Amino acid sequence: MADIPPYFNIDPDGALAALGAPTTTADFAAIASACEAGRDDLASRGLEDGTKRKLRPFSTWEITRYLIPVAPGHFRRVLKAHPELPQGQSETAGGAKWFTLQEVLTLRAHFAAQGAKTKNYQPYRPAGQPAKIVSVANFKGGVGKTSTAAHLAMSAALDGYKVLVVDLDSQGSMTSVFGGSVADEWQTVFPLIARHYAKHLQTENQRRVDRSEAPLPLDDTLDQALDTRTQDLIQTTHWPNIDLIGAQLNLYWAEFQIPVWRMQGRGWKLWDALSDIWDQDGVLDDYDIIFLDTPPALGYLTINGLAAADILLVPLGASFLEFDSTGRFFDMLHATFGSIEESENMAARALGRDGLNFEWDAVRAVITRYDDTQQAELAGLMQAYLGPVLSPHRQGFTALIGQAGEQVQGIYEADYRDFNRETYVRGRETFDATYAAFKQLLIGAWRRDALDDQTQAAE
Ligand SMILES: Nc1ncnc2c1ncn2[C@@H]1O[C@H](COP(=O)(O)OP(=O)(O)O)[C@@H](O)[C@H]1O
Ligand SMILES: [Mg+2]
Repeated sequence: MADIPPYFNIDPDGALAALGAPTTTADFAAIASACEAGRDDLASRGLEDGTKRKLRPFSTWEITRYLIPVAPGHFRRVLKAHPELPQGQSETAGGAKWFTLQEVLTLRAHFAAQGAKTKNYQPYRPAGQPAKIVSVANFKGGVGKTSTAAHLAMSAALDGYKVLVVDLDSQGSMTSVFGGSVADEWQTVFPLIARHYAKHLQTENQRRVDRSEAPLPLDDTLDQALDTRTQDLIQTTHWPNIDLIGAQLNLYWAEFQIPVWRMQGRGWKLWDALSDIWDQDGVLDDYDIIFLDTPPALGYLTINGLAAADILLVPLGASFLEFDSTGRFFDMLHATFGSIEESENMAARALGRDGLNFEWDAVRAVITRYDDTQQAELAGLMQAYLGPVLSPHRQGFTALIGQAGEQVQGIYEADYRDFNRETYVRGRETFDATYAAFKQLLIGAWRRDALDDQTQAAE
């Protein structure tokens, strides 16, 4: 007799016997503590993820191929002529030389000062322009938001930019990529948003006092937030030029707290919170690029992150489901920001003030995990409909991600000697090209700002 499918002939009493008692809230505690015990067991076996990370060294091959535009022979001659420069370490006598990223940055600065003037050894940022804020967002999970943001941050760091990575996802994936440790919501962006609200409340209270009304009290949270500066929250990472503001589960509390504040302080412009605070704290001068990784939801944190952004990247796979849900994501962006503008502009018109118009330097959808043997047709169709909104480069699916081992979180952290050379070169090429497409936007946006400032100064 042929086997029948396993969903036939299920006996109700047998199913009941296998079901067990109903689950209660208390059972969640038992499940959570079982997970914690298992986690501790794994940690004790050295499989833990959160141990302090160390960035691998970079070889002369990699430096001259990917990082500093000089020929290997010339690179060696320059090092020989300048014994004061980092000389690298070799594993065997006369073997290949390896350098830390800090040493690579020192060498880059040397070439920038001494090398051919026709080459761009240092990446472009016009003097006097603030950092660009880049949000990577899509309300669908698993589309490559964190991978894209993390790789862009690392590419930008290898390119010589000073980078701040901000995790707005309470799942904290980005935080673990950069080995961050976050005890509670006070080490996330939460106090910054709270501070922005507390300042609003103080201004509002001044008005109340002027009108002989009773001021609204500032609770302990708001009091404490008033003393928090962004610099208190920033952690260094194993990358010398990438810093982090991390996240952990408690950050989710913001999704409940922000609407309460917004109810109380109707005039609070919560969407300005992050950009205002970073401007006030000088963060936009301290860094070149700030990358925000967002949760898979269009909640208050995402809205904050999107509103703060100069450049918005929306990753999606070339599949029907992801294309469809990304379309709805843009629909929700339109509805959300449209309704904020509408209500603000009504108030602004009544007061004879300037209205609010959100504006981004660039918004691009980015195809991720692309497989050209299966997805070329769909990607072509997406290209036809989205036109220039779709970034021309499709980020290829690569085996280098996800299999690179416990301590390594992406292509740029992997040692190329652990892979087949061709797999490495292809995987690296596709992420380098993702970065190149992004850098084109970044530089164009900075250039536009710089030219606008020049025009204004001339007027
Ligand atoms: N280019 C890629 N090639 C192969 N796997 C990828 C690629 N980009 C992302 N992934 C994998 O896809 C999964 C989801 O990616 P992730 O960046 O965590 O998405 P999100 O942040 O949107 O939830 C992860 O397992 C990640 O390793
Ligand atoms: Mg993510």
